[in-house]
Amino acid sequence: MTDLIIHNIGRLFTPDPDSFGKMNVTENCSIVIKNGLIDQIIPSDLEINASKLEKFDVLDAKGMSVLPGFVDSHAHPVFAALRNGEFEMRNAGKSYLEIAEAGGGIKNSVRKLRAMSEDELYAISVRRVREFIKFGTTTLEAKSGYGLTCEDELKMLRVIKRLNETLEIDLIPTFLGAHDIPEEYKNDREGYISLLINEMIPKVAAEKLAVACDIFIEKNYYTVDEGRLILAAAKEHGLDVKIHADQLSRTGASMLAAELGALSSDHLEYISEEDIDAMIEKGTVFNLMPGASFFLGMTDHPPVRKIIAKGGICALSTDFNPGSCYCYSLPFIMTISAIYLHMSAEELVWAATAGGARALGLNDRGMIAKGKKADLLVVKCGELSEIPYSMGMNLVRKVIKDGKVL
Ligand code: NIG
Ligand code: FE
Repeated sequence: MTDLIIHNIGRLFTPDPDSFGKMNVTENCSIVIKNGLIDQIIPSDLEINASKLEKFDVLDAKGMSVLPGFVDSHAHPVFAALRNGEFEMRNAGKSYLEIAEAGGGIKNSVRKLRAMSEDELYAISVRRVREFIKFGTTTLEAKSGYGLTCEDELKMLRVIKRLNETLEIDLIPTFLGAHDIPEEYKNDREGYISLLINEMIPKVAAEKLAVACDIFIEKNYYTVDEGRLILAAAKEHGLDVKIHADQLSRTGASMLAAELGALSSDHLEYISEEDIDAMIEKGTVFNLMPGASFFLGMTDHPPVRKIIAKGGICALSTDFNPGSCYCYSLPFIMTISAIYLHMSAEELVWAATAGGARALGLNDRGMIAKGKKADLLVVKCGELSEIPYSMGMNLVRKVIKDGKVL
């Protein structure tokens, strides 16, 4: 592996590990990268000995800013077909739940994914993941959840594994067999839950196809009690747990996330004060994804100012999926979050880097410090607030993953 020096950095921004939302800044510096890891941050005017330089590739940041690569900790990038027709139906007045009740929504994606071959699914997913990279994502969580049979869930997870092996960025696989109750089990939910617990989770864990297990707890989907059973089984098989929680109504799912020591509780539009306190006490990450509420035309948002004031740690993710958020770009999600969640640029970048890493249980990335992965972005901005301000634009000029310029 060749080593790399990034020099002529105007400003280097890195999350303060001890303080949510605080970004530390170093001006006029260079980063020395060895074996894919950050080795040193040195002032620009310090002579780099020429003989040493020969062993390094050199990247000129041209006075731009450098930040950690984005860690998108909640996404559904593997699916068969777009659902733009449902988007049109929503804009004509139907709700997400109404469309789902009429056979659309997740069930629509399930039918199409089951009919698609593994190779085809891989080929369309590769194209999508490359789009994420352009917008600065260097670690991407990827969920199953559109198969809902043992074979189709494994098919999705094998596609995620292959994406991870063939693409430059890291994909972190999550099993989401409890995304919905499949059509063929609609009169036998216990039967499907038993399949999840006794067959699917053990198999996924034994084949090491996922590191975590997720569930959609919501009216018409799974209850808190079912979630407790399913996630307890996942934990017994060594998987981390997380929950799609309190997205369309308050269900108590975030309380369950705290009870189970989940990595994160995700969405949180209808979270209560006691849920917030329980999550903070257990160190559960508040995973925010306002792209979904924006795309669904919802006007309720998580009480983020309250969460931060109480000391909660937030992550920010796209929730990229064909139904409720067809958006690859964390910078665009930052724009929405700034406006609707009233978050500062420093909080947003912290949440999309160190926060994302925390939500995935990874402590080797998400900041620029000695020994961390050299996952870095060269961004054409002087101040962080230019990122959320530049609505729909892409200020990312270079993406570096494990010390390699992509
Ligand atoms: O995170 N909430 C459930 N799951 C996804 C939506 C999935 C879909 O509509 O396909 C979400 O919003
Ligand atoms: Fe989701």
